[in-house]
Amino acid sequence: MSASAPQDGQEPAFTVHLNGSGGAVKGWVVVDTLVDGLAMGGVRMTPGVTEEEVRGLARDMTDKFTLAGLRIGGAKGGIVSDGSGREETFRTFGRTVKPLLHGGIHLGIDMGVTSADRAVFFAEAGYDPRYRLGVPDMPIDWRTYYEPLLDVTGHGVGVAAVTALEASGHSGPARVVVQGFGAVGRAVARFLEERGHVVVGVADVQGTISADRLPVAELAAVTDDFGRIDRSRLPQHVTLSGEPDAWLDVDADLLVLAAQKHALSAENAHRLRAGLVVEGANLASSAAAKEKAAASGATLVPGVIANIGGAGSAALAVTRVVPFDLPADARKQWVFDWVADRVRRNTRDLLEIAASRAGDPLPELLDVRREERR
Ligand SMILES: NC(=O)c1ccc[n+]([C@@H]2O[C@H](COP(=O)([O-])OP(=O)(O)OC[C@H]3O[C@@H](n4cnc5c(N)ncnc54)[C@H](O)[C@@H]3O)[C@@H](O)[C@H]2O)c1
Repeated sequence: MSASAPQDGQEPAFTVHLNGSGGAVKGWVVVDTLVDGLAMGGVRMTPGVTEEEVRGLARDMTDKFTLAGLRIGGAKGGIVSDGSGREETFRTFGRTVKPLLHGGIHLGIDMGVTSADRAVFFAEAGYDPRYRLGVPDMPIDWRTYYEPLLDVTGHGVGVAAVTALEASGHSGPARVVVQGFGAVGRAVARFLEERGHVVVGVADVQGTISADRLPVAELAAVTDDFGRIDRSRLPQHVTLSGEPDAWLDVDADLLVLAAQKHALSAENAHRLRAGLVVEGANLASSAAAKEKAAASGATLVPGVIANIGGAGSAALAVTRVVPFDLPADARKQWVFDWVADRVRRNTRDLLEIAASRAGDPLPELLDVRREERR
């Protein structure tokens, strides 16, 4: 099958409604597009996930892989659950999606799903991504490949930010606010600080912390696995705010969105102070917020360009593009460099299109990349 070119409003290749196999489960797997018979994406499990949300995320995966030049389509899974009885849920899920996994639809981890959950549904389905008919075996197991790549998404988001700052003619240290201090937010903050930029605000689910200069390593040392910063162990001379979305009020050149969906929305976009917004999270800004940000003169680098690290490096393995024969350190560096190259090129080209005409530049860049991948 050749690369398909989904347009806005186009139906996914197919949607599987999950009711369970030998148990009950409610959810969906949406395969937005297939390329060479392959598609992939993460599975999320939340009480409120909807088919529409999963469709939107599957389309995002298609766009990410198209932009990165990877020969694989986009998919996504969603399970409606509060996480109770998760072992049984993932056993049932594994039995239900078994034909998909063995048929070229690779499903990974997203919000609310852990690597332990993935191990349960892979085992139940008898699926090991090392082996697929017609392609060489992976010589190492998935965890050995993927675990060293924890920071790769944040690395790519950092590259997008630095590239966009350069393109805007910004010189000297930029003042940075990072909304969300989880795996992605911490890695971006570290990346930018290492390159001489100054983190002046970070936010987690409890509120916003700001200062003239926040010490990233010190904050990361008092942050738990869920990205919650311990307020009783903060560095001195910081300002705390529990006001909703107070991260928008911190004076900054760059805002990195690395938390929840639609963090920037029609309701709060008028408070945006930074001239540059980089999306580390998926669907971090609503469509209306993007329009408002553009109208106010701000530049926005979307998540489908900036945050491809995690999905891209998984897709590199599924499509067997990774040079697996390299030693572990060199292999990790190869993946980080690959992600940085793709993010840099897409960010530059997006901003060039944006400078040449009005309106959203992303559809034009997607057309260009689709042609290149054909
Ligand atoms: N980890 C990856 O490789 C990856 C890849 C692509 C996209 N994403 C997306 O990026 C986002 C961040 O991912 P992560 O792995 O860092 O998640 P995480 O769970 O490790 O961290 C999330 C952070 O966001 C904060 N947060 C949640 N709700 C918030 C709110 N309302 N206001 C302010 N902060 C809030 C949390 O307190 C935490 O600090 C998620 O939406 C995720 O789906 C992650």
